[in-house]
Amino acid sequence: MSILVTGGAGYIGSITVDQLITQGQDIVVIDNLSTGHREAVNENARLYEGDLRDAEFMDNVFGKETIEAVIHVAAFSIVPESMKDPLKYFNNNDTGFVTLLETMNHHDVRQIVFSSTAAVYGEPVHIPITEADPKIPTNPYGESKLLMEKMARWADEAYGIRFVALRYFNVAGAKPDGSIGEDHHPETHLLPIILQVATGKREKLQIFGDDYDTEDGTNVRDYVHVMDLAAAHILAAKYLQNGGKSDAFNLGSATGFSNLQLLQAARQVTGQAIPSEMAPRRPGDPSTLIAASDKAREVLGWKPVFDDVTKTIETAWTWTQSHPNGYQE
Ligand code: UFG
Repeated sequence: MSILVTGGAGYIGSITVDQLITQGQDIVVIDNLSTGHREAVNENARLYEGDLRDAEFMDNVFGKETIEAVIHVAAFSIVPESMKDPLKYFNNNDTGFVTLLETMNHHDVRQIVFSSTAAVYGEPVHIPITEADPKIPTNPYGESKLLMEKMARWADEAYGIRFVALRYFNVAGAKPDGSIGEDHHPETHLLPIILQVATGKREKLQIFGDDYDTEDGTNVRDYVHVMDLAAAHILAAKYLQNGGKSDAFNLGSATGFSNLQLLQAARQVTGQAIPSEMAPRRPGDPSTLIAASDKAREVLGWKPVFDDVTKTIETAWTWTQSHPNGYQE
């Protein structure tokens, strides 16, 4: 029996696949390589290149392989892009999910772990954010993920497909040996951009907004290490395998870092000046996002090991220095 990882060539998917294979699992990957990288996929996984929205392709993969559970991390995930092109997000993330669930139902696969996001909450009503808090997304990306959670709930009621939705906060870092990391084109995320400035690939960092209602005026985010995040997917798959009921979990560190604090920490880790300037707010950005992650710890037994943002920056720095152009070399 195999586990299917959709998006297994992407940042989070490739590290999850790597960990699963290290644990001796048989892994099938589906990825359309629109943002993923073939080189990121562990050589022991079977990669099928194709699109989740292609029902015939999906049916073929499920027909050929013996899939017992799905870890679904294939999605578009860039907040500013979703503000400019919301339908691109609903089409890929939600239509793709419908086809995936239909294919699973047809092939009698009844367990799925999938990526959701802190962006489902929108502007939080209190900090830290708990799973039961109101969900009023401030951007189409978050809305597309909230829709997936709703679809999953009804798919469970009707077809008995149990799910775990993992609401990621800000994922960062790389595999500590520097072999797998973040490689987006264009890059929009704060830490990789900071590190590109540190290597000299970019001239300076623009900080989007210093007039938020936070201590230093810049947005506050909760950084979770990609290795810990990948481990949570594996724990969630085990939870479902052991009969766990459908549920959603926050994955964060419960600690907030402002954009300026992250920049300062990166200056220390890299020893580089990293020039920066203030720029206008970026549409769709909530002011502060910090997770309460007790539920994942208690129910899934999740124990993050990279619990210090310095370690996160260090691993990302190792990756950036060894892959200044990502997987391109
Ligand atoms: N930022 C800058 N300058 C940049 C890039 C980002 O100031 O050049 C700021 C953003 O405005 C924001 C913070 O850095 O305040 C973090 O932005 P990212 O783009 O790195 O991440 P987001 O918080 O927008 O989004 C990330 C994921 C989403 C997820 C969200 C949940 O990309 O998928 O975290 O917290 F939904």
